[in-house]
Amino acid sequence: MKRQPHDFLAMKTVHPITMLTAYTCPVARALERAKIPVILVGDTVGMVEMGFDSTRDVTIAHMEYHVGAVRRGAPNTHIIGDLPYLTDKDPDTALHSAERLISAGADSIKLEGAKTDVIAHLVNSGIPVVGHTGLTPQTAQNFKQVGKVEQEAQQIKRDAHAIQQAGAFMLVLEHIPYSLAADITGHLSIPTIGIGAGPDCDGQVLVINDALGLGDYWPPFSKQYAHASDTLVNVANAFRDEVTQRVFPINIIPLTGTGSR
Ligand code: KIV
Repeated sequence: MKRQPHDFLAMKTVHPITMLTAYTCPVARALERAKIPVILVGDTVGMVEMGFDSTRDVTIAHMEYHVGAVRRGAPNTHIIGDLPYLTDKDPDTALHSAERLISAGADSIKLEGAKTDVIAHLVNSGIPVVGHTGLTPQTAQNFKQVGKVEQEAQQIKRDAHAIQQAGAFMLVLEHIPYSLAADITGHLSIPTIGIGAGPDCDGQVLVINDALGLGDYWPPFSKQYAHASDTLVNVANAFRDEVTQRVFPINIIPLTGTGSR
């Protein structure tokens, strides 16, 4: 059954929350089969799937396309749609952008930073919101850890509390010291989801391409559970060899599937 915001609130301190990103229908289908309770259609799509150097190149139309594909693959999973750069620049623009992602299939919306007026406006308009603080890639100069100096740590703490106060039901903490994430997690009533924020968050999120080993840049806090890029190269090599040697398509043995495509 599809989880709702109150289910994630109830999981805090009781059951660690597993979140993965997805951008396409087949990946979403696999995550639903694996019973991942929440999928984030993140604007990381711009970097890991679209070849941009920054998430700032992602548009709301790109996100609508990917949210739609993920919804078709995972009809029974909670899907968070990420608001891309500047599409949340003021409350009304953010509401219009969020409504587009909700219409495309998202159950809730994530946005970066302590934009409390925007969060409150979305929540008051009936749209559940996930916050995101710590490293916020849309506005960061680089991808280094933040919150190491006391002043910065205090600001992140204030932002986390302000995001909760504005009505967010969950908060992503990205690339901050583990002790800071533990402190924030212990003082908030909403669940925190860490990425590069240590083991004491209420849940963890990974970018699916990082987890699959599909790409060639790995953030220091990611983990490759597979080596999909190597598998792709092996498949392409094998196919090229078989075509060159006129082995394919002779003697194809169908493994699975209906052959209806
Ligand atoms: O866009 C994204 O995928 C994200 C995660 C890294 C949390 O914001």
